[in-house]
Amino acid sequence: MATVVKNGTIVTADLTYKADLKIDGGKIVEIGPDLAGDETLDATGCYVMPGGIDPHVHLEMPFMGTYSADDFDSGTRAALAGGTTMVVDFCLPDPGQSMLDALKRWDNKATRAHCDYSFHMAVTWWSEQVFNEMQTVVQEKGINTFKHFMAYKGSLMVNDDEMFASFSRCAELGALPLVHAENGDVVAAMQQKLMDEGNNGPEAHAYSRPASVEGEATNRAIIIADMAGVPLYVVHTSCEQAHEAIRRARQNGMRVYGEPLIQHLTLDESEYFDKDWDHSARRVMSPPFRNKQHQDSLWAGLASGSLQCVATDHCAFTTDQKRYGVGDFRKIPNGTGGLEDRLPMLWTYGVATGRITMNEFVAVTSTNIAKILNLYPRKGAILVGADADLVVLDPKKSKTISAKTQQSAIDYNVFEGKQVTGLPRYTLSRGVVVVEEGTIRSREGHGQFVAREPYPAVSKALSTWKDLTAPRKVERTGIPASGV
Ligand code: URP
Ligand code: ZN
Ligand code: ZN
Ligand code: ZN
Repeated sequence: MATVVKNGTIVTADLTYKADLKIDGGKIVEIGPDLAGDETLDATGCYVMPGGIDPHVHLEMPFMGTYSADDFDSGTRAALAGGTTMVVDFCLPDPGQSMLDALKRWDNKATRAHCDYSFHMAVTWWSEQVFNEMQTVVQEKGINTFKHFMAYKGSLMVNDDEMFASFSRCAELGALPLVHAENGDVVAAMQQKLMDEGNNGPEAHAYSRPASVEGEATNRAIIIADMAGVPLYVVHTSCEQAHEAIRRARQNGMRVYGEPLIQHLTLDESEYFDKDWDHSARRVMSPPFRNKQHQDSLWAGLASGSLQCVATDHCAFTTDQKRYGVGDFRKIPNGTGGLEDRLPMLWTYGVATGRITMNEFVAVTSTNIAKILNLYPRKGAILVGADADLVVLDPKKSKTISAKTQQSAIDYNVFEGKQVTGLPRYTLSRGVVVVEEGTIRSREGHGQFVAREPYPAVSKALSTWKDLTAPRKVERTGIPASGV
Protein backbone atom coordinates (compact mmCIF):
# COMPACT_ATOMS: atom_id res chain seq x y z
CA MET A 1 0.00 0.00 0.00
CA ALA A 2 1.50 3.31 -1.08
CA THR A 3 1.10 6.53 0.86
CA VAL A 4 1.60 9.93 -0.75
CA VAL A 5 2.47 13.10 1.14
CA LYS A 6 0.97 15.77 -1.13
CA ASN A 7 1.35 19.50 -1.72
CA GLY A 8 4.06 20.12 0.84
CA THR A 9 7.41 21.87 0.62
CA ILE A 10 10.30 19.49 1.11
CA VAL A 11 13.02 20.91 3.35
CA THR A 12 16.32 19.09 3.70
CA ALA A 13 19.71 20.14 5.04
CA ASP A 14 20.58 21.66 1.66
CA LEU A 15 17.41 22.07 -0.44
CA THR A 16 13.92 23.58 -0.25
CA TYR A 17 11.47 22.64 -3.04
CA LYS A 18 7.87 21.75 -3.80
CA ALA A 19 7.23 18.06 -4.43
CA ASP A 20 5.10 15.11 -3.38
CA LEU A 21 6.60 12.07 -1.70
CA LYS A 22 5.56 8.48 -2.30
CA ILE A 23 6.17 5.87 0.39
CA ASP A 24 5.98 2.09 0.14
CA GLY A 25 7.29 -0.68 2.36
CA GLY A 26 8.47 1.89 4.90
CA LYS A 27 10.78 3.62 2.41
CA ILE A 28 10.61 6.68 0.19
CA VAL A 29 10.09 5.31 -3.32
CA GLU A 30 9.44 8.43 -5.41
CA ILE A 31 9.78 12.21 -5.15
CA GLY A 32 8.15 14.45 -7.72
CA PRO A 33 5.06 16.35 -8.87
CA ASP A 34 1.50 14.98 -8.95
CA LEU A 35 2.10 11.60 -7.32
CA ALA A 36 -0.82 9.31 -6.46
CA GLY A 37 -1.17 6.43 -3.96
CA ASP A 38 -3.67 4.45 -1.92
CA GLU A 39 -3.57 6.88 1.00
CA THR A 40 -2.96 10.65 0.79
CA LEU A 41 -1.64 12.90 3.54
CA ASP A 42 -2.27 16.56 2.88
CA ALA A 43 0.82 18.68 3.54
CA THR A 44 -0.55 21.96 2.16
CA GLY A 45 1.16 24.85 3.94
CA CYS A 46 3.61 22.47 5.66
CA TYR A 47 7.28 21.62 5.48
CA VAL A 48 8.13 17.97 4.91
CA MET A 49 11.40 17.16 6.63
CA PRO A 50 13.44 14.19 7.80
CA GLY A 51 12.19 13.22 11.26
CA GLY A 52 14.31 14.40 14.15
CA ILE A 53 17.06 12.18 15.50
CA ASP A 54 17.91 12.71 19.16
CA PRO A 55 21.40 11.32 19.72
CA HIS A 56 21.33 11.72 23.48
CA VAL A 57 18.60 10.25 25.68
CA HIS A 58 18.51 8.25 28.93
CA LEU A 59 15.34 6.18 29.17
CA GLU A 60 14.82 4.15 32.36
CA MET A 61 18.41 4.92 33.24
CA PRO A 62 19.78 3.63 36.56
CA PHE A 63 21.37 6.76 38.04
CA MET A 64 22.01 8.36 41.42
CA GLY A 65 20.10 5.70 43.34
CA THR A 66 17.00 5.68 41.14
CA TYR A 67 15.80 5.25 37.54
CA SER A 68 14.93 8.05 35.13
CA ALA A 69 11.15 8.15 34.96
CA ASP A 70 10.55 8.00 31.21
CA ASP A 71 11.06 4.53 29.80
CA PHE A 72 11.16 3.44 26.16
CA ASP A 73 7.36 3.59 26.08
CA SER A 74 6.66 7.12 27.36
CA GLY A 75 10.00 8.48 26.15
CA THR A 76 9.59 7.42 22.54
CA ARG A 77 5.94 8.52 22.52
CA ALA A 78 7.18 11.94 23.63
CA ALA A 79 9.77 11.85 20.84
CA LEU A 80 7.17 11.12 18.14
CA ALA A 81 4.73 13.72 19.50
CA GLY A 82 7.43 16.32 18.92
CA GLY A 83 8.53 15.10 15.47
CA THR A 84 11.54 13.04 16.57
CA THR A 85 11.55 9.64 14.89
CA MET A 86 14.75 8.10 16.26
CA VAL A 87 16.56 8.20 19.60
CA VAL A 88 19.98 6.99 20.69
CA ASP A 89 20.22 5.81 24.30
CA PHE A 90 23.32 5.01 26.37
CA CYS A 91 23.98 1.45 27.50
CA LEU A 92 25.71 1.80 30.89
CA PRO A 93 27.56 -1.22 32.30
CA ASP A 94 28.07 -0.99 36.05
CA PRO A 95 31.77 -0.70 36.87
CA GLY A 96 33.05 -4.29 36.68
CA GLN A 97 30.12 -5.46 34.55
CA SER A 98 30.44 -6.96 31.07
CA MET A 99 29.32 -4.68 28.22
CA LEU A 100 27.50 -7.63 26.68
CA ASP A 101 25.54 -8.33 29.85
CA ALA A 102 24.58 -4.67 30.15
CA LEU A 103 23.46 -4.70 26.52
CA LYS A 104 21.00 -7.53 27.24
CA ARG A 105 19.28 -5.28 29.79
CA TRP A 106 19.08 -2.41 27.32
CA ASP A 107 17.81 -4.67 24.52
CA ASN A 108 15.10 -5.84 26.87
CA LYS A 109 14.02 -2.34 27.94
CA ALA A 110 13.92 -1.10 24.37
CA THR A 111 11.40 -3.70 23.19
CA ARG A 112 8.76 -1.13 24.23
CA ALA A 113 9.99 1.57 21.83
CA HIS A 114 7.47 3.36 19.60
CA CYS A 115 10.21 4.73 17.30
CA ASP A 116 13.49 3.41 15.95
CA TYR A 117 16.47 3.53 18.26
CA SER A 118 20.13 2.79 18.56
CA PHE A 119 22.64 2.64 21.42
CA HIS A 120 25.93 4.19 22.44
CA MET A 121 28.02 1.99 24.76
CA ALA A 122 29.57 3.58 27.86
CA VAL A 123 33.11 2.78 29.01
CA THR A 124 32.65 3.03 32.79
CA TRP A 125 35.77 1.06 33.80
CA TRP A 126 38.85 -0.34 32.09
CA SER A 127 40.34 -3.82 31.81
CA GLU A 128 41.41 -6.40 29.24
CA GLN A 129 37.82 -7.64 29.23
CA VAL A 130 36.55 -4.18 28.27
CA PHE A 131 39.25 -3.90 25.59
CA ASN A 132 38.15 -7.23 24.09
CA GLU A 133 34.41 -6.63 24.39
CA MET A 134 34.68 -3.32 22.55
CA GLN A 135 35.48 -5.32 19.42
CA THR A 136 32.41 -7.52 19.82
CA VAL A 137 30.26 -4.46 20.45
CA VAL A 138 31.45 -2.83 17.21
CA GLN A 139 31.63 -5.89 14.98
CA GLU A 140 28.65 -7.90 16.20
CA LYS A 141 26.30 -5.57 18.06
CA GLY A 142 25.95 -2.65 15.64
CA ILE A 143 27.32 -0.01 18.02
CA ASN A 144 30.09 2.27 16.79
CA THR A 145 30.16 4.91 19.56
CA PHE A 146 31.64 4.73 23.08
CA LYS A 147 30.75 7.23 25.80
CA HIS A 148 33.19 8.39 28.49
CA PHE A 149 32.15 10.32 31.59
CA MET A 150 34.86 12.71 32.80
CA ALA A 151 32.54 13.65 35.71
CA TYR A 152 30.48 11.72 38.32
CA LYS A 153 33.52 10.80 40.39
CA GLY A 154 33.05 7.55 42.28
CA SER A 155 30.45 6.15 39.86
CA LEU A 156 30.71 6.58 36.09
CA MET A 157 33.90 8.66 35.82
CA VAL A 158 36.97 7.40 33.97
CA ASN A 159 40.48 8.85 34.29
CA ASP A 160 42.78 10.17 31.57
CA ASP A 161 44.82 6.94 31.26
CA GLU A 162 41.63 4.91 30.83
CA MET A 163 40.31 7.43 28.33
CA PHE A 164 43.51 7.35 26.29
CA ALA A 165 43.45 3.53 26.23
CA SER A 166 39.79 3.48 25.23
CA PHE A 167 40.18 6.20 22.58
CA SER A 168 43.12 4.29 21.10
CA ARG A 169 40.96 1.16 20.98
CA CYS A 170 38.21 3.19 19.25
CA ALA A 171 40.79 4.26 16.67
CA GLU A 172 41.69 0.61 15.95
CA LEU A 173 38.04 -0.42 15.65
CA GLY A 174 36.85 2.54 13.57
CA ALA A 175 34.58 3.71 16.40
CA LEU A 176 33.83 7.22 17.64
CA PRO A 177 34.42 8.20 21.28
CA LEU A 178 31.94 10.50 23.03
CA VAL A 179 32.68 12.51 26.17
CA HIS A 180 30.73 14.11 28.97
CA ALA A 181 33.34 16.80 29.54
CA GLU A 182 33.53 18.22 33.06
CA ASN A 183 36.52 17.95 35.39
CA GLY A 184 35.07 15.45 37.89
CA ASP A 185 37.86 15.86 40.46
CA VAL A 186 37.43 19.63 40.64
CA VAL A 187 33.62 19.34 40.73
CA ALA A 188 33.79 16.87 43.65
CA ALA A 189 36.13 19.17 45.59
CA MET A 190 33.95 22.21 44.94
CA GLN A 191 30.81 20.34 45.95
CA GLN A 192 32.39 19.38 49.27
CA LYS A 193 33.53 22.97 49.92
CA LEU A 194 30.06 24.35 49.19
CA MET A 195 28.44 21.80 51.50
CA ASP A 196 30.95 22.56 54.26
CA GLU A 197 30.01 26.23 53.93
CA GLY A 198 26.32 25.39 54.33
CA ASN A 199 25.50 25.96 50.66
CA ASN A 200 23.25 22.91 50.21
CA GLY A 201 20.49 24.15 47.85
CA PRO A 202 20.12 23.49 44.11
CA GLU A 203 21.90 26.76 43.25
CA ALA A 204 25.08 25.18 44.66
CA HIS A 205 24.84 22.57 41.88
CA ALA A 206 25.51 25.39 39.40
CA TYR A 207 28.24 26.96 41.56
CA SER A 208 30.08 23.64 41.71
CA ARG A 209 30.20 23.23 37.92
CA PRO A 210 31.30 26.54 36.38
CA ALA A 211 32.01 26.87 32.66
CA SER A 212 35.77 26.56 33.22
CA VAL A 213 35.50 22.94 34.47
CA GLU A 214 33.71 22.11 31.24
CA GLY A 215 36.14 24.07 29.06
CA GLU A 216 39.17 22.41 30.65
CA ALA A 217 37.75 18.89 30.28
CA THR A 218 36.64 19.50 26.68
CA ASN A 219 40.11 20.67 25.75
CA ARG A 220 41.71 17.72 27.57
CA ALA A 221 39.48 15.21 25.79
CA ILE A 222 40.30 16.85 22.45
CA ILE A 223 44.04 16.57 23.08
CA ILE A 224 43.71 12.94 24.17
CA ALA A 225 41.65 12.16 21.04
CA ASP A 226 44.27 13.83 18.88
CA MET A 227 47.04 11.79 20.52
CA ALA A 228 45.00 8.62 19.97
CA GLY A 229 44.27 9.55 16.33
CA VAL A 230 40.49 9.40 16.61
CA PRO A 231 37.61 11.85 15.99
CA LEU A 232 35.68 13.06 19.06
CA TYR A 233 32.04 13.91 19.82
CA VAL A 234 31.44 16.19 22.82
CA VAL A 235 27.97 15.77 24.30
CA HIS A 236 25.96 18.58 25.90
CA THR A 237 28.33 21.43 25.02
CA SER A 238 26.93 24.24 27.15
CA CYS A 239 29.43 27.09 27.27
CA GLU A 240 31.77 29.32 25.31
CA GLN A 241 34.90 27.75 26.87
CA ALA A 242 33.96 24.30 25.57
CA HIS A 243 32.78 25.69 22.24
CA GLU A 244 36.04 27.62 21.89
CA ALA A 245 38.07 24.42 22.40
CA ILE A 246 35.97 22.66 19.75
CA ARG A 247 36.27 25.59 17.31
CA ARG A 248 40.03 25.74 17.73
CA ALA A 249 40.40 21.98 17.21
CA ARG A 250 38.28 22.11 14.06
CA GLN A 251 40.33 25.01 12.70
CA ASN A 252 43.39 22.84 13.30
CA GLY A 253 41.92 20.11 11.14
CA MET A 254 40.53 17.79 13.79
CA ARG A 255 37.21 16.05 13.44
CA VAL A 256 35.60 17.23 16.67
CA TYR A 257 31.84 17.57 16.98
CA GLY A 258 29.82 19.56 19.55
CA GLU A 259 26.24 18.97 20.69
CA PRO A 260 24.35 21.79 22.43
CA LEU A 261 21.07 20.86 24.13
CA ILE A 262 17.80 22.69 23.53
CA GLN A 263 17.71 23.37 27.29
CA HIS A 264 21.07 25.19 27.27
CA LEU A 265 20.04 27.19 24.21
CA THR A 266 16.80 28.47 25.73
CA LEU A 267 16.94 28.32 29.56
CA ASP A 268 19.46 30.16 31.73
CA GLU A 269 21.08 30.00 35.15
CA SER A 270 18.47 32.27 36.78
CA GLU A 271 16.34 29.10 37.09
CA TYR A 272 18.60 28.01 39.97
CA PHE A 273 17.90 31.17 41.98
CA ASP A 274 14.13 30.70 42.13
CA LYS A 275 12.74 30.88 45.69
CA ASP A 276 10.88 27.60 45.10
CA TRP A 277 13.23 24.65 45.87
CA ASP A 278 11.29 22.31 43.56
CA HIS A 279 11.49 24.76 40.65
CA SER A 280 15.27 24.93 40.87
CA ALA A 281 15.85 21.24 41.63
CA ARG A 282 13.74 20.18 38.65
CA ARG A 283 16.26 22.02 36.46
CA VAL A 284 19.37 20.47 38.01
CA MET A 285 21.36 18.83 35.28
CA SER A 286 25.02 18.58 34.31
CA PRO A 287 26.35 20.79 32.91
CA PRO A 288 24.01 23.37 34.48
CA PHE A 289 22.20 26.10 32.57
CA ARG A 290 24.46 29.08 31.76
CA ASN A 291 24.09 32.82 31.16
CA LYS A 292 23.06 34.67 27.99
CA GLN A 293 26.63 35.08 26.68
CA HIS A 294 27.09 31.32 26.67
CA GLN A 295 23.73 30.88 24.96
CA ASP A 296 24.73 33.37 22.25
CA SER A 297 27.93 31.41 21.71
CA LEU A 298 25.98 28.17 21.20
CA TRP A 299 23.57 29.77 18.74
CA ALA A 300 26.50 31.24 16.83
CA GLY A 301 28.10 27.79 16.69
CA LEU A 302 24.97 26.28 15.15
CA ALA A 303 24.73 29.04 12.55
CA SER A 304 28.41 28.95 11.63
CA GLY A 305 28.81 25.16 11.70
CA SER A 306 31.30 24.88 14.57
CA LEU A 307 28.58 23.00 16.54
CA GLN A 308 26.70 20.27 14.72
CA CYS A 309 23.68 18.85 16.55
CA VAL A 310 20.95 19.87 18.97
CA ALA A 311 20.00 17.10 21.41
CA THR A 312 18.02 16.86 24.68
CA ASP A 313 19.93 14.52 27.02
CA HIS A 314 16.37 13.57 28.00
CA CYS A 315 16.75 12.16 31.52
CA ALA A 316 13.54 12.96 33.34
CA PHE A 317 12.99 12.63 37.10
CA THR A 318 9.76 13.33 38.98
CA THR A 319 9.56 16.00 41.68
CA ASP A 320 9.56 13.26 44.31
CA GLN A 321 12.80 11.87 42.89
CA LYS A 322 14.36 15.36 42.80
CA ARG A 323 13.50 15.68 46.51
CA TYR A 324 16.08 12.96 47.37
CA GLY A 325 18.41 15.96 47.41
CA VAL A 326 16.66 18.17 49.98
CA GLY A 327 19.46 19.29 52.31
CA ASP A 328 22.23 18.02 50.00
CA PHE A 329 22.24 19.23 46.38
CA ARG A 330 24.67 16.43 45.47
CA LYS A 331 21.82 13.92 45.84
CA ILE A 332 19.39 15.67 43.46
CA PRO A 333 19.19 13.28 40.47
CA ASN A 334 20.81 15.10 37.55
CA GLY A 335 18.73 15.43 34.42
CA THR A 336 15.91 17.20 32.60
CA GLY A 337 13.36 16.27 29.94
CA GLY A 338 12.89 17.75 26.48
CA LEU A 339 12.20 15.02 23.91
CA GLU A 340 8.75 16.30 22.97
CA ASP A 341 9.86 19.93 22.95
CA ARG A 342 13.19 19.92 21.11
CA LEU A 343 11.89 20.56 17.59
CA PRO A 344 9.12 23.08 18.46
CA MET A 345 11.45 24.99 20.82
CA LEU A 346 14.24 25.10 18.22
CA TRP A 347 11.82 26.14 15.49
CA THR A 348 10.36 28.89 17.69
CA TYR A 349 13.60 30.24 19.18
CA GLY A 350 15.82 29.43 16.20
CA VAL A 351 14.02 29.54 12.85
CA ALA A 352 11.21 31.96 13.75
CA THR A 353 13.72 34.43 15.24
CA GLY A 354 16.11 34.18 12.26
CA ARG A 355 18.94 32.70 14.32
CA ILE A 356 19.07 29.67 12.00
CA THR A 357 17.54 28.79 8.63
CA MET A 358 15.05 25.99 7.99
CA ASN A 359 17.80 24.01 6.27
CA GLU A 360 20.12 24.50 9.23
CA PHE A 361 17.25 23.34 11.45
CA VAL A 362 17.10 20.05 9.52
CA ALA A 363 20.88 19.76 9.60
CA VAL A 364 21.17 20.17 13.37
CA THR A 365 18.12 18.09 14.33
CA SER A 366 18.64 15.20 11.93
CA THR A 367 21.03 15.12 8.98
CA ASN A 368 24.32 16.03 10.69
CA ILE A 369 23.91 13.44 13.41
CA ALA A 370 22.83 10.81 10.86
CA LYS A 371 26.14 11.40 9.11
CA ILE A 372 28.20 11.49 12.32
CA LEU A 373 26.63 8.24 13.58
CA ASN A 374 26.94 6.53 10.18
CA LEU A 375 23.17 6.27 9.70
CA TYR A 376 22.99 8.42 6.58
CA PRO A 377 21.21 8.22 4.15
CA ARG A 378 18.96 5.54 5.67
CA LYS A 379 18.03 8.16 8.29
CA GLY A 380 18.27 11.95 8.14
CA ALA A 381 17.57 12.18 4.41
CA ILE A 382 14.72 12.72 1.98
CA LEU A 383 15.97 10.55 -0.84
CA VAL A 384 14.58 7.58 -2.73
CA GLY A 385 15.54 4.51 -0.69
CA ALA A 386 15.70 6.30 2.66
CA ASP A 387 13.47 5.21 5.56
CA ALA A 388 10.22 7.20 5.52
CA ASP A 389 10.87 8.76 8.94
CA LEU A 390 9.29 12.15 8.39
CA VAL A 391 7.83 15.12 10.12
CA VAL A 392 5.24 17.20 8.28
CA LEU A 393 5.70 20.42 10.19
CA ASP A 394 2.95 23.02 10.22
CA PRO A 395 4.65 26.40 10.81
CA LYS A 396 1.32 27.99 11.81
CA LYS A 397 0.29 25.45 14.41
CA SER A 398 1.06 26.56 17.95
CA LYS A 399 0.57 25.53 21.57
CA THR A 400 1.61 26.40 25.09
CA ILE A 401 3.90 23.77 26.56
CA SER A 402 2.35 22.17 29.63
CA ALA A 403 3.02 19.09 31.74
CA LYS A 404 -0.75 18.47 31.67
CA THR A 405 -0.71 17.56 27.98
CA GLN A 406 2.76 16.01 27.57
CA GLN A 407 3.62 12.37 26.86
CA SER A 408 6.46 12.32 29.37
CA ALA A 409 5.61 10.53 32.62
CA ILE A 410 6.87 13.27 34.92
CA ASP A 411 4.75 15.87 36.74
CA TYR A 412 6.32 19.05 35.34
CA ASN A 413 8.04 20.41 32.25
CA VAL A 414 11.10 22.67 32.33
CA PHE A 415 9.60 24.60 29.38
CA GLU A 416 6.20 25.02 31.09
CA GLY A 417 4.30 28.03 29.73
CA LYS A 418 6.46 28.57 26.64
CA GLN A 419 4.38 29.40 23.58
CA VAL A 420 5.74 27.44 20.59
CA THR A 421 4.89 27.43 16.89
CA GLY A 422 5.91 24.81 14.37
CA LEU A 423 4.28 21.51 15.35
CA PRO A 424 3.85 18.22 13.52
CA ARG A 425 0.69 17.84 11.45
CA TYR A 426 1.92 14.29 10.89
CA THR A 427 4.87 12.27 12.13
CA LEU A 428 5.72 9.13 10.16
CA SER A 429 7.92 6.29 11.34
CA ARG A 430 9.01 4.01 8.47
CA GLY A 431 5.93 5.11 6.56
CA VAL A 432 3.43 4.55 9.37
CA VAL A 433 1.50 7.63 10.49
CA VAL A 434 2.31 7.62 14.19
CA VAL A 435 1.10 11.13 15.06
CA GLU A 436 -1.77 12.99 13.42
CA GLU A 437 -2.67 16.52 14.56
CA GLY A 438 -1.49 15.90 18.11
CA THR A 439 -3.04 12.43 18.42
CA ILE A 440 -0.63 9.56 19.00
CA ARG A 441 -1.37 6.53 16.84
CA SER A 442 1.85 4.64 17.41
CA ARG A 443 2.24 1.19 18.87
CA GLU A 444 4.51 0.05 21.69
CA GLY A 445 7.11 -2.24 20.10
CA HIS A 446 6.92 -0.66 16.63
CA GLY A 447 10.44 0.77 17.09
CA GLN A 448 13.36 -1.25 15.76
CA PHE A 449 17.02 -1.33 16.70
CA VAL A 450 19.16 0.34 14.04
CA ALA A 451 22.61 -1.22 13.78
CA ARG A 452 25.46 1.12 12.89
CA GLU A 453 28.62 0.07 11.08
CA PRO A 454 32.09 1.34 12.05
CA TYR A 455 33.63 4.19 10.06
CA PRO A 456 36.21 2.71 7.72
CA ALA A 457 36.90 5.93 5.79
CA VAL A 458 37.68 8.27 8.67
CA SER A 459 39.63 5.73 10.69
CA LYS A 460 41.67 4.72 7.63
CA ALA A 461 42.46 8.37 6.86
CA LEU A 462 43.47 9.05 10.46
CA SER A 463 45.55 5.90 10.83
CA THR A 464 47.27 6.44 7.48
CA TRP A 465 48.17 9.98 8.52
CA LYS A 466 49.26 8.83 11.97
CA ASP A 467 51.55 6.16 10.44
CA LEU A 468 53.03 8.71 8.05
CA THR A 469 53.76 11.16 10.85
CA ALA A 470 54.74 8.66 13.58
CA PRO A 471 58.10 9.14 15.38
CA ARG A 472 60.88 7.47 13.39
CA LYS A 473 64.42 6.75 14.37
CA VAL A 474 66.82 8.76 12.19
CA GLU A 475 69.24 6.40 10.41
CA ARG A 476 72.53 8.36 10.60
CA THR A 477 75.65 7.95 8.54
CA GLY A 478 78.19 9.46 10.90
CA ILE A 479 77.92 8.46 14.55
CA PRO A 480 80.67 9.85 16.79
CA ALA A 481 82.42 7.41 19.13
CA SER A 482 80.69 7.45 22.47
CA GLY A 483 82.20 8.83 25.64
CA VAL A 484 85.50 10.63 25.97
O1 URP B 1 22.43 15.82 34.16
C1 URP B 1 22.48 15.02 33.24
N1 URP B 1 23.00 15.42 32.10
N2 URP B 1 22.00 13.77 33.42
C2 URP B 1 22.08 12.69 32.52
C3 URP B 1 23.40 12.01 32.54
C4 URP B 1 24.42 12.79 31.77
O2 URP B 1 25.35 13.34 32.34
O3 URP B 1 24.31 12.90 30.55
ZN1 ZN C 1 2.53 1.43 27.13
ZN1 ZN D 1 26.42 13.83 30.61
ZN1 ZN E 1 23.39 12.31 29.07
